[in-house]
Amino acid sequence: MFAAQDDAGVRNELLAAMAEARAQTDRLFTLVKKDSLYQRPIPERHRIVFYIGHLEAFDWNLAQGLVPHLRPFHTEFDRLFAFGIDPVDGGRPTDQPKDWPVLSEVHRYRDKVREALDAVLENSSFWRASYDGFSAATLLNVAIEHRLMHAETLAYMLHQLPLEQKIRQGNAPAHTARPLEFGMIEIPGGAATLGLAHDDFAFGWDNEFEAHRVSVPAFEIDRYKVTNGQYLEFVDAGGYQDRSLWPEAGWSWKTEQNFSHPLFWKRRNGRWYYRTMFDELPLPLDWPVFVSHAEASAYASWSGQKLPTEAQWHRAAYGTANGSERAYPWGAETPDRTHGYFDFRRWDPTPVNASPRGASAFGVAGLVGNGWEWTSSVFEPFEGFQPFSFYPGYSANFFDGKHYVLKGGSIRTAACMLRRSFRNWFQPHYPYVYAGFRCVSD
Ligand SMILES: [Fe+2]
Repeated sequence: MFAAQDDAGVRNELLAAMAEARAQTDRLFTLVKKDSLYQRPIPERHRIVFYIGHLEAFDWNLAQGLVPHLRPFHTEFDRLFAFGIDPVDGGRPTDQPKDWPVLSEVHRYRDKVREALDAVLENSSFWRASYDGFSAATLLNVAIEHRLMHAETLAYMLHQLPLEQKIRQGNAPAHTARPLEFGMIEIPGGAATLGLAHDDFAFGWDNEFEAHRVSVPAFEIDRYKVTNGQYLEFVDAGGYQDRSLWPEAGWSWKTEQNFSHPLFWKRRNGRWYYRTMFDELPLPLDWPVFVSHAEASAYASWSGQKLPTEAQWHRAAYGTANGSERAYPWGAETPDRTHGYFDFRRWDPTPVNASPRGASAFGVAGLVGNGWEWTSSVFEPFEGFQPFSFYPGYSANFFDGKHYVLKGGSIRTAACMLRRSFRNWFQPHYPYVYAGFRCVSD
């Protein structure tokens, strides 16, 4: 994750990254009007106020479990704000705003945690010690990436908050559209390396280990992510009413939720609109469609195709004709603005062909950034998986056969998590993610 080699360099980069991650999440809460911080924009998730406390409780609980002599000062909040929720059975929390502490108390807790942890981070003995076999740098990376993941998932959540409860922020301009050249790209058979090797000495989450090679037969893949325009054809063709296209559980979910189009779309006076973070626009036909895994699967069935496996996605993104593999689709350069839309660059997507310099060796466009991509692969451990002893449930709690791997990254994914081995996962009936898909055929 970090380029600096010497200890002081690594330490300073990590401290700067932590400060930036805190600033990133602090900014997010300021776009919610004060009287709306106890709202619950996504019915299956906690109220917004929970996350103000959670980001700090996570860091505190992590440190408190590993750093000697750290004494708790608010065990009630340490527990209250410890865990988020992800009910796969559609169960919904029933707590009320009054069940949560007042904002001033949560802010006091946040400030005290930061003060106590910053004192630890200033102490050079912290950086020399080992924690259950893990380095201080690993713990810092865990705290930073945990916070940055929430910076992204909080954006999904605030997206669902009614516009009048938000304070509008500026948005970098979307790329000016050039003509789309739809089509599929042939990917020759070859090997794909999934995962991260321990001897790479790079930070990765438990589910990224171990590195291994997978042989992938030849296939074809869409040049772009599926656009709103393409998905509209499926909607107009009655795709949401054709039971034969849907996985059984997906059909039940769609029917119960009364879904007849993507969550981000809205129909008014016979016209389609798109709900962006702060606006409603006429449906942008060349933006990627954002849908749940079930909706993506139904579209793929309708078009006579499939979603790519995790290994196929890797092969299309990082493979080359001569058999070598790249760190990023475009090569070895660290991600920057010319490669795609990520790292909080905008609030909303941009056309699927916006970043030609980000294309893979095979010419597949827009794989990293501008929306995660669903795969057909169930989220499972790689051979040699070992959970982090200090956070055993991070991945293992989701190896239940009910979550699918996503690859790539969205506009709100931090640059550090665009590494090749990073794996995201969600349940198939969760429509709030900035996630789309592309199709493959064998
Ligand atoms: Fe969390």
